[in-house]
Amino acid sequence: MVSKEELRAKSMIMRPGLGRLTGKGAIVTGSTSGIGEAIARLFAHEGARVVVTGRNVDRGQKVVAAIAEDGGDALFLPADVTKDDELEGMIARGREYLGQIDILVNNAGRFIVAPLEVLSADDFDAFSRLDARSYFQAMKMVIPGMEAQGGGVVLNVTSLAALDPMPVFAIYGYVKAGVNQMARAIAREYSARGVRVNSLLPGLVLTAMTDDSPDFDAVQAGVPMGRASTPMEQAYAALFLCSDEASYVTGCNMLVAGGA
Ligand SMILES: NC(=O)c1ccc[n+]([C@@H]2O[C@H](COP(=O)([O-])OP(=O)(O)OC[C@H]3O[C@@H](n4cnc5c(N)ncnc54)[C@H](OP(=O)(O)O)[C@@H]3O)[C@@H](O)[C@H]2O)c1
Repeated sequence: MVSKEELRAKSMIMRPGLGRLTGKGAIVTGSTSGIGEAIARLFAHEGARVVVTGRNVDRGQKVVAAIAEDGGDALFLPADVTKDDELEGMIARGREYLGQIDILVNNAGRFIVAPLEVLSADDFDAFSRLDARSYFQAMKMVIPGMEAQGGGVVLNVTSLAALDPMPVFAIYGYVKAGVNQMARAIAREYSARGVRVNSLLPGLVLTAMTDDSPDFDAVQAGVPMGRASTPMEQAYAALFLCSDEASYVTGCNMLVAGGA
């Protein structure tokens, strides 16, 4: 089995940049860590100007510093995406910095896995607010501007759990599946209006979210490829979906799950 150390060593490794996002402006929510950090770093590496956002200022500034060290352009704007005023303020300031928002990646999220008898209605509300409502709100705030400027792309990071009804994932799977369906509906609404909307469904990824899970090794052993993915392997799929190379791809649920 691949060790966590091996996965960690590869977590942010990028190939030589090809300028696939040159001239684009991107906001990536939840980019102070994990999959969002990899997406922000890769998009900047490929020429985009990037807004890094999350609540943790220290981690956000470290991501911006890593992007600058790589020769890229990024700004950290702190925001709790569950608070509409903070989300709206971050998007407004992000638009000023970027000139226009060409790419929105909704990725901020957390993990909630527990048996039904332990899960509460408060868990349901709090998780939906972060992992679904904030995605909806961000799309409402950004997509009309994308249409007005002549185009744009949205990517929603959801999960394999949206397709596979795993035990103890009741709320998590429900919310992620709902986001996929919402994204496909919005994709159809905007298909002829210049805005593409897709979802990325990661399988197991080694990030802060999963690192301390007692089941990590057992889940990893059950992945057909026999290992978890790195955040950067998810980011390369996100890069395709958000680049002009995917110009005919909208309403897509892309599963990046090592065969699961
Ligand atoms: N890891 C996996 O195996 C896996 C598998 C499938 C899907 N996913 C999905 O991938 C996405 C990213 O997860 P990850 O694994 O990369 O986890 P992670 O490393 O824990 O990152 C989560 C990110 O979300 C941000 N965030 C959390 N709550 C927030 C809030 N209220 N406001 C703003 N930002 C918030 C965090 O930033 P701050 O702490 O700075 O606020 C952090 O940047 C999630 O949507 C997750 O459900 C992960």
